[in-house]
Amino acid sequence: MPLRFLILIFFFLFSHNCRAQNSQCSPSSCGKIQNIRYPFRLKSDPKTCGNKRYILSCENNVTILDLYWGKYLVEAIDYINHTIRLVDPNIQEGNCSSLPRYTLSNYNFSYNDPYEQHQWNNEGTVSVELTKSVIFMSCEKPVKSYLYIDTPSCSNGSSGPLSQHKRHSYVVNRRLSISDTADSCRIEVMTLVSNLGKNYSNASSFMDIHDQLTFGFELSWIPGTKPLPIRIGNCIVFNFDYVPE
Ligand SMILES: *[C@@H]1O[C@H](CO)[C@@H](O)[C@H](O)[C@H]1NC(C)=O
Ligand SMILES: *[C@@H]1O[C@H](CO)[C@@H](O)[C@H](O)[C@H]1NC(C)=O
Ligand SMILES: *[C@@H]1O[C@H](CO)[C@@H](O)[C@H](O)[C@H]1NC(C)=O
Ligand SMILES: *[C@@H]1O[C@H](CO)[C@@H](O)[C@H](O)[C@H]1NC(C)=O
Ligand SMILES: *[C@@H]1O[C@H](CO)[C@@H](O)[C@H](O)[C@H]1NC(C)=O
Repeated sequence: MPLRFLILIFFFLFSHNCRAQNSQCSPSSCGKIQNIRYPFRLKSDPKTCGNKRYILSCENNVTILDLYWGKYLVEAIDYINHTIRLVDPNIQEGNCSSLPRYTLSNYNFSYNDPYEQHQWNNEGTVSVELTKSVIFMSCEKPVKSYLYIDTPSCSNGSSGPLSQHKRHSYVVNRRLSISDTADSCRIEVMTLVSNLGKNYSNASSFMDIHDQLTFGFELSWIPGTKPLPIRIGNCIVFNFDYVPE
């Protein structure tokens, strides 16, 4: 069969599939996430809905995403920008003693994973960095640097989130070069915050940074690897759609 014909059939199958999917799978909801639809599905939804790489669960009215070894709370899903906003489950709003449960950094993400820290433009290059790192450190000696933000200063009178370590605790939300890294410090936990909006660069107190942790971070579900997504009718088809269910 001529290749062109095969491709046509292929497109027909996909567009057919996609329409069938749209009509049979009504959006699901769980707590404040009201419109869970393709490529996502809840674990309890029919297997024909969504994509198996994008399964969420609903636990006690809270939408959960298993990301590597972590279980993150889903705060929002943006179907226009193809981003999902996540918050570490330990972070409590306004409670600056609450620190992330999971360590998450660039090193957790690998090529071809379902979620990426970047958005890509049509040329296949990174157009938006969605996340920045926040590092909680504890140090034997006090560190005098504007890069090291004191964590005890977050709450009046209380001793700060890392006080049990009997060390000096700091949070760093900027890139550290080797020469900025204090010898007596070790990393306690690191996580990601959103790099969108102006708040990130302005954050200069622990309370600001804690607010960012409460807001969470966005990840993109559009793979940056080629082939690029193609639009068929109402559906966007990605390379991962070739993975059989
Ligand atoms: C689940 O969350 C929704 C939206 O926040 C709320 O309207 C509903 O009452 C909650 N249900 C339960 C059982 O908590
Ligand atoms: C990220 O990687 C680190 C180091 O391998 C690991 O300890 C951590 O659990 C990973 N985070 C998640 C959320 O899986
Ligand atoms: C999508 O992203 C752009 C740029 O990152 C942002 O300006 C816009 O507000 C986002 N759209 C939505 C619906 O969040
Ligand atoms: C604040 O968070 C800390 C650490 O997780 C916890 O021990 C404490 O009970 C929390 N405080 C409140 C008022 O929830
Ligand atoms: C940015 O700061 C404003 C005001 O402090 C706050 O309302 C908003 O939620 C913050 N946005 C983010 C992304 O943290």
